[in-house]
Amino acid sequence: MKPINVGLLGIGTVGGGAFAVLSRNQEEIARRAGCAITMKMVADKELDKARRIVGKRALVTADAHEVVNSSDIDIVVELIGGTTAARELILEAIANGKHIVTANKALLAQHGNEIFAAAQKKDVMVAFEAAVGGGIPIIKSLREGLTANRIEWIAGIINGTSNFILSEMRDQGASFQDALKEAQRRGYAEADSTFDVEGIDAAHKLTIMAAIGFGIPMQFKAAYTEGISRLTQEDIRYAGELGYRIKLLGITKRKPQGIELRVHPALIPARRLIANVEGVMNAILVKGDAVGQTMYYGAGAGAEPTASAVVADLVDVARMLTADPEHRVPHLAFQPDRLSDTPILPMGEVETAYYLRMRVLDKPGVLADITRILADLRISIDAMVQKEPHEGEEQVDIIMLTHLTVEKNVNAAIAKIEKLPVVVGSVTRIRLEQLN
Ligand code: HSE
Repeated sequence: MKPINVGLLGIGTVGGGAFAVLSRNQEEIARRAGCAITMKMVADKELDKARRIVGKRALVTADAHEVVNSSDIDIVVELIGGTTAARELILEAIANGKHIVTANKALLAQHGNEIFAAAQKKDVMVAFEAAVGGGIPIIKSLREGLTANRIEWIAGIINGTSNFILSEMRDQGASFQDALKEAQRRGYAEADSTFDVEGIDAAHKLTIMAAIGFGIPMQFKAAYTEGISRLTQEDIRYAGELGYRIKLLGITKRKPQGIELRVHPALIPARRLIANVEGVMNAILVKGDAVGQTMYYGAGAGAEPTASAVVADLVDVARMLTADPEHRVPHLAFQPDRLSDTPILPMGEVETAYYLRMRVLDKPGVLADITRILADLRISIDAMVQKEPHEGEEQVDIIMLTHLTVEKNVNAAIAKIEKLPVVVGSVTRIRLEQLN
């Protein structure tokens, strides 16, 4: 088979990794793909940097359009990120009949429907293993390995930066700000770190997994997104004392009324495997009706782990190039004309358990007032702890864990509790997931 020529857009961390992995493992990859896969052109605005990495092994240009319009190129790898230039270049490449490999989760979560429709029209493939979970082959697993199953839910630690911050806060007693600085120093964070700490990056990845898991279009705008920037040392410690760890989770669940699609910090029982995923690592739990729970663990970011996914996509595309487009694996795992319009549930309708922390005056009747409000809203208490009063103070912290309940009821209860004169300040609410 003739060699497959690749054009790379962006030779930053992941692009450099892809170039290195493809060169280093060239022979092994050719044995697997059945043909050589060659990086023929590289586009990057920083020409000198690109030339230093590539040497004489590929043509280097500052103009990405030159790559997407080159008749020599079979597959375009988009690693420039962002949703403006990347979108235009990918659509242009598709219009030119090129196959696409991308790691761009933001682009797919927001414009995936448009990109896949364009690709389908031109009979080209868009592969995106590197968009979710770095080197973990979660897209392949969801789309192919679990294809016999009705997926019931997916829950994952899918942002390495926030997981690193939470680990540092718990293990080193670091403040949120110091842990974030350390994550940035180590190069884990996105260009705009609010994407990491406010759950946006995780919501992009979750949107993609939900689409593939349930056969629905990408619906990033409907995802509920809450980050970790307001978590305190106190809550991390209290959660630990109660046998839980706090993690930023992306959760998507199929319910009779619709699909839950949410990213937020959550308490998880410390004995669960996923609760012990630390640092920059990612892990994704998938529950299928036939297989039960499966878990996928690995490096969610970094040059070569992400490059591992990019190169795997190149091999996949190379293998399928000559296949009849009708018989390729559909982009979203389900046939494009069989996607479902099941609605995404508003957050108020989501059902989960809750950790509630409140500071109250240490006086008779206070607990009775609070539990009455909860009972009136049919919220059942699973566990409760009253902490020792702080020295010289007549205020105590109360922590309550609830059984499963509907979020709108918890919101209503919190509003009422905060109005009680015996309650000081606001109630902290963190969701709790048993993941069993
Ligand atoms: N900033 C991302 C993370 C990198 O921390 O997980 C990979 O998407």
